[in-house]
Formats: sequence, C-alpha cells, structure tokens
Amino acid sequence: MGYDLVIVANRLPVDRVDQPDGTSTWRPSPGGLVTAIEPVMRANDGVWMGWPGGTEQDLEPFEDNGLEMFPMTMTAEEIEGHYEGFSNGTLWPLYHDLVAKPEFHREWWDSYVAVNQRFAAQAAELANEGALVWVHDYQMQLVPQLLRELRPDLRIGFYLHIPFPPAELFQQLPWRRQVLEGLLGADLVGFQLPGGAANFVRLVRQRVGHKTHRDMVYLPDGRTVRAAAFPISIDTKEFEQLAQSPEVTARAKEIRSALGEPRKIFLGVDRLDYTKGIYARLRAYAELLGDEHFDVEDAVFVQVAVPSREQVEEYQRLRDETDRLVGRINGDHGKIGRPAISYLHSSYPREEMAALYRAADVMVVTPYRDGMNLVAKEYVACRYDDLGALVLSEFAGAADELRQAWLVNPYDINGMKSALLEAYQADDKELTRRMRAMRKTVRSHDVNAWAESYMSALTAVPDAHGKTVRPARRR
Ligand code: G6P
Repeated sequence: MGYDLVIVANRLPVDRVDQPDGTSTWRPSPGGLVTAIEPVMRANDGVWMGWPGGTEQDLEPFEDNGLEMFPMTMTAEEIEGHYEGFSNGTLWPLYHDLVAKPEFHREWWDSYVAVNQRFAAQAAELANEGALVWVHDYQMQLVPQLLRELRPDLRIGFYLHIPFPPAELFQQLPWRRQVLEGLLGADLVGFQLPGGAANFVRLVRQRVGHKTHRDMVYLPDGRTVRAAAFPISIDTKEFEQLAQSPEVTARAKEIRSALGEPRKIFLGVDRLDYTKGIYARLRAYAELLGDEHFDVEDAVFVQVAVPSREQVEEYQRLRDETDRLVGRINGDHGKIGRPAISYLHSSYPREEMAALYRAADVMVVTPYRDGMNLVAKEYVACRYDDLGALVLSEFAGAADELRQAWLVNPYDINGMKSALLEAYQADDKELTRRMRAMRKTVRSHDVNAWAESYMSALTAVPDAHGKTVRPARRR
C-alpha cells in the first residue's frame, strides 16, 4: 500500500543521534523547513521521505510522534557531493545574493543528479495512483521532472524555502537549464515572495524558451505550470500557548535572573550561517557599548547560534570568526559576572526558545538575505503581552509582512546602531502599537493558512489532460 501524500525533502524532521552505548535516539532537525511542514503532515495522512543525517545504511521506515517517516540513506560521497557540495557550496550562496562565493564543480553536480534520481525513484514507489507529491527546497530541484517521467499520473508540487535569485546571478550556474527544467516538472512552483516567482518565470522564458504569461508557463506538450508566491509561516497558536504556559513563564523569569536582571535583554537566534549577519549585528551592538549609550549592567546580548553544516569550510571559518569577535567584545566591555554577549553555540527545544523570546526585550534578526525567517514570526507569536521590539532586516522575506518592525539594512552598521538604540529606548506605548499590528499579521497568516493556500492552488492548476490553457487570472 502506498500513500496519497508524499513529502519529499532532503531532511527528515528528525535527526538520528548515535549514543556512546551503541543505541540511537531521534531529535528534531534544525531549520525553518521542518518547523513549517510538520503541522501540514500532521493534518494529512502522508509519509515524509528524507535523510536523517549520518551515513547509516540499514534504516527502516518508522513512526515518530504519529508521523510516518521514510528514511533515505546517503553515503559519505553523497554527503560530500550532494549535500555539502552542490546544495550548500554552490546553490546556497548563489541563491543568497552571493553572500559567500559559490563554487562550481562537475563532480558535485553529478552527485546532486544521482541523489535527486534516487529520491524521485523512491517517491514514485511510495505514491498511490493520482497521489500528491510535495517536493521541498533547493536540494531537490530535479525531483519534479524526474518524478513526472516515472509517474505522469501524479500531481506534483514544489516549494522553495530560500530566495530564488535574479537572472543576473542564476545564469552563472553552468547547469541553469537543467535546474529550470527540473522545476518545470511540477504543476505548481511555490516561492516565498512574488519577486522569486517573477525571476523564475523570466528565466524560463529567456533560457528555456517557453511561452509565459504572468505567473503561468505554457509547455509545448500542453501542460501548464504556475509559479507563485506563498509566504510561509508558523503555527502561531502553538507558540502563543507555549509562551503562556506556567513552565515557560517561570523559565523566562529564571533566564532574566540568571543574566543578572539587566534592564534590557537583546536576543539573536540563528543557525550559525554566513547569510544571517551575526557578525555585523554583534559589532553594531559592541559599538553602542563603546559609545556609552548603555553598559553591561543595563543590557546583555544573548546570541544563540545553532550549529550547522559544520563540515563545510565557510561555516568553519564563520565559527572561528564569531568565536573571536565574541571573545574580543567580552574582553573589551565585560565585567566580572557581566558579559556583554552571552554566546550559546547550541540548539534548544521549543520550550526553551519560547522562554527566551519572552525574556527578550529586543529581538534582533538581521540576515543579509533570508527566504522568510521564521524566528521573527515566532518571537511575535510569543509576545502575547504586546511588548517586545523586533529589529528586522529588510532582506528577510518576513520584512514584507512585518512592516512595523524596526527595519534595517544589515550592511549599514550606523543604521543598525540607530535601530538597536531606538528599540532599546522605545516606550511601552510605541512597542505595543507595533507589536499589536504584527501579531495581527502572524495570527491571520499562520502555517495552516499557508498550506491551505498552497494546496488549493496546486489542485487548481490544470493537469496534463486539462483543456484549460487560458491564462489564470491573478488574484
Ligand atoms: C534552511 C533550508 C532547509 C534546511 C535547513 C537546515 O531552513 O531552507 O532546507 O534543511 O536550513 O539546514 P541543513 O543543511 O541542516 O538541512
């Protein structure tokens, strides 16, 4: 028996952790993708295909927390070529505005193709006749087309969680045409923002030569593909309830007291990734201390840096640079028992995150480029007291919706300093005015609304036998 819904993602929502005693356990895997799709999986009776981390080869399907998991193995060579190489050494920097320099290696590409083929073949086996397959993110861009070749009966959706770059950047990719054609295997290609969808349609017209009209692509075989924006969100209610729980409330108090009851707590929470702008943000904060706007008795900056992609060179360099910067700032500005920056290189369960959000007065989210950034939305969801300030990069997808944040250009250190200081000094009236408006947004646009709008758009695209080739009307 197969499934009516198959989620295909590079990662499972859980990572396998091997214990010293030879046994293994599972823990939630990092990143926004998992946070977003998990509730959708729960609501539908599907299976989730993905890699559980590591190189274990003897994995069996299993159930985790009521979710059906189909683990996909990866060899050490595939991890190097597909995951660390093409996905995170080529595509990730290329799609994030070249914040780091992408590397182009033919062996990485070969490995990317091979892994995408294996995932597509497995999805073809798991899906029932006419099933829905939802493929996620940049590591899996060839799966839609490969899968359609194997199973033309399926309805295939693709969603890109990261930005889709402008043509000027994308066309550097030696395999640009193959990637575009891979995506065109889907009925619906979803992006975070309208700009990404527009970049894609333009590239398809210019590089593949298909006819396009607004958000529709017309393929020579009569099939149509729609490219549109579906800004992702979080389970707002779940975070709000978590933040209100007595345990989290008590833990938030405990955190403030452990930090020495400063007047204000600044907070950053990111995967340790060069796109997140952690270094520049901490420098801006240190300059505020240096300019004596406040001191370490008044405020502390808690930076949670979740370990990520630690075998990739750029990430190792970033970790060294961040370690060094934090050490220097604390050396220059700290006092006994009062660090300027409380730096935590670790990941934490949701409860602890909710407590940190509640304890923090100023949430600082300053990526150079980010598809959406769910941390910003999680913070807002947890502030049921209508207080707390959000300093948010203009270059995060979330800035399109959270207009009442203190919006900053992360390349402009002085601008960031001013925004951090304003957020620090803002009175409750100002904070409430902004937070209320942002809360309204994340409440009405939660992850369920996102999934529903994606799913209904997916089923509305005419299928391979559909006669409707008229341009769909824009909403
Ligand atoms: C981002 C990406 C995801 C990815 C996650 C964690 O959110 O969009 O596809 O899974 O980061 O990165 P990792 O490399 O650990 O899977």
